[in-house]
Amino acid sequence: MNHFLDINKTSQSDLRAMIDNARAMKDSRNGRPKGTPDDDQPLAGHMVALIFEKPSTRTRVSFDVGVRQMGGQTMVLSGADMQLGHGETIADTARVLSRYVDLIMIRTFEEQTLLEMAEYASVPVINGLTDRTHPCQIMADILTFEEHRGPIAGKKVVWSGDGNNVCASFIHAAGQFGFDLTFTGPETLDPEKLFVEEARAKGVNINIERDPMKAVDGADLVVTDTWVSMHDPQSARERRHNQLRGYQVNAALMDRAKPDALFMHCLPAHRDDEATSEVMDGPHSVIFDEAENRLHAQKAIMRWCLGA
Ligand code: CP
Ligand code: NVA
Repeated sequence: MNHFLDINKTSQSDLRAMIDNARAMKDSRNGRPKGTPDDDQPLAGHMVALIFEKPSTRTRVSFDVGVRQMGGQTMVLSGADMQLGHGETIADTARVLSRYVDLIMIRTFEEQTLLEMAEYASVPVINGLTDRTHPCQIMADILTFEEHRGPIAGKKVVWSGDGNNVCASFIHAAGQFGFDLTFTGPETLDPEKLFVEEARAKGVNINIERDPMKAVDGADLVVTDTWVSMHDPQSARERRHNQLRGYQVNAALMDRAKPDALFMHCLPAHRDDEATSEVMDGPHSVIFDEAENRLHAQKAIMRWCLGA
């Protein structure tokens, strides 16, 4: 079963094939209107369930549009409105949904929910973000980097800020796509030790540098994300802001990266907190290409899941 649960759980050759396929599918649309179907209709006759236990703009719309462009149909479900939100087990939900649909994408809190869904579903399951990882986002980010700058292998990527779920998937991707990753942020918000240790054990170059100016020296790509994620308690907001303020991505920080460095943010952003509007709207920024590429990357992920 081709579940897409995490970047470190998918083979390097399959990941590479997905990125290349995403790029080819993007090119083949040739800027045609978004509502028109692709020439190929690999998802014709397929039904896809998109389950959201957390809010979403990009994931929701890009999956929905992607399925339709490939000839399939979707149903968007809110966890709270399903029996899932009222005590039905994940295992039973997975078994039931598998009788109706060909593919399940779920955005949830605990990773365990995703894993149980995958264990008991008899159709492929895609991770649309958990508290721990966000693999679809990083597939779009790899596609975006390579479109602008060529192969990401051997490049220096710097993550500045909270060592959160999106950062975790970047750490996984460093191993699978062969780039170096430097994390810069306060020790209290370091990425999960296990992910760092697993990556290092495979020989991946993961550095931790507390000084953001030193960290971005020679960077090919600078990435950040919100300082307060959806799973973080609002009560932690002020403390997190205080800890992370020094890691804001601003023009002075970008000046220390390579002159042609890219800036990425998965969005949604809190402008002038984790990154200034000057950077977000400036010449290094590719944030809206990243958002667009969610569509193309996920189309390739879905085709891989379904062998379509
Ligand atoms: N980047 C991302 O996953 O955005 P949404 O929360 O809007 O889906
Ligand atoms: N780290 C963020 C990413 C949102 C797409 C969150 O989990 O809220």
